Amino acid sequence: MAKPMGSPNQILILFAHPAFEKSRVNRQLIQAVQSLDGVTVHDLYEAYPNFHINVKAEQDLLLTHDVIVFHHPFYWYSSPAILKEWQDLVLEHGFAYGQGGTALHGKKFLTAITTGGDKYAYCKDGYNRFTIRELLVPFEQTAGLCGMEYLPPFVVQGTHRLREREEIDQHAADYRAVITALRDGTIHWDRLPQFQHLNHGLDRLICTPEVSQNA
Ligand SMILES: Cc1cc2nc3c(=O)[nH]c(=O)nc-3n(C[C@H](O)[C@H](O)[C@H](O)COP(=O)(O)O)c2cc1C
Repeated sequence: MAKPMGSPNQILILFAHPAFEKSRVNRQLIQAVQSLDGVTVHDLYEAYPNFHINVKAEQDLLLTHDVIVFHHPFYWYSSPAILKEWQDLVLEHGFAYGQGGTALHGKKFLTAITTGGDKYAYCKDGYNRFTIRELLVPFEQTAGLCGMEYLPPFVVQGTHRLREREEIDQHAADYRAVITALRDGTIHWDRLPQFQHLNHGLDRLICTPEVSQNA
């Protein structure tokens, strides 16, 4: 069913962290957005500790949201395992792609990740040899095949060295600002292609004052 013009976007955050009790960074990011109106935080490891994913329930959740977010720590240049299982089962032929598979068409897709490696590690001459955008290509193309608009990812890097009170707090505030702006549509959509990472220029991307100037 089409969304009434001007109504806020419904945001679904599919959160995957297999060791949440040890998390420093994702814990604060998720706490910053979980009480927002119009935002559903769905913790996959909490919902499915045995990986028995309820495909119909997951597809119904997708249908009632406009922006789909994969939020997780970067593990082995990809997502933790449950998110792969989720993709394999939920993004079915005839639902997400292929003949009659139009359920996700027109939705927006965002990846929100944290990486242990810092920004210098993720370049051609760096330790990890590839950029984050290059390593995220499977997610970008999955979104594309499903007819979703792929947004530049929200990326927090060098997590092991981030200071709690100052730096992690700032990233959490930025994440909240991004999710709020996606919900309210207060983003300069035409400027998105200029950004490798969404949080490289929040002050230029978001049309509201709830933005850090030092992003
Ligand atoms: C199994 C595993 C695989 C990881 N793989 C990567 C990786 O490929 N690239 C990277 O930059 N960091 C990697 N890391 C580091 C995590 O991304 C980092 O610890 C996490 O983002 C920190 O967030 P947290 O405080 O919420 O746990 C890995 C960590 C674990 C435990």
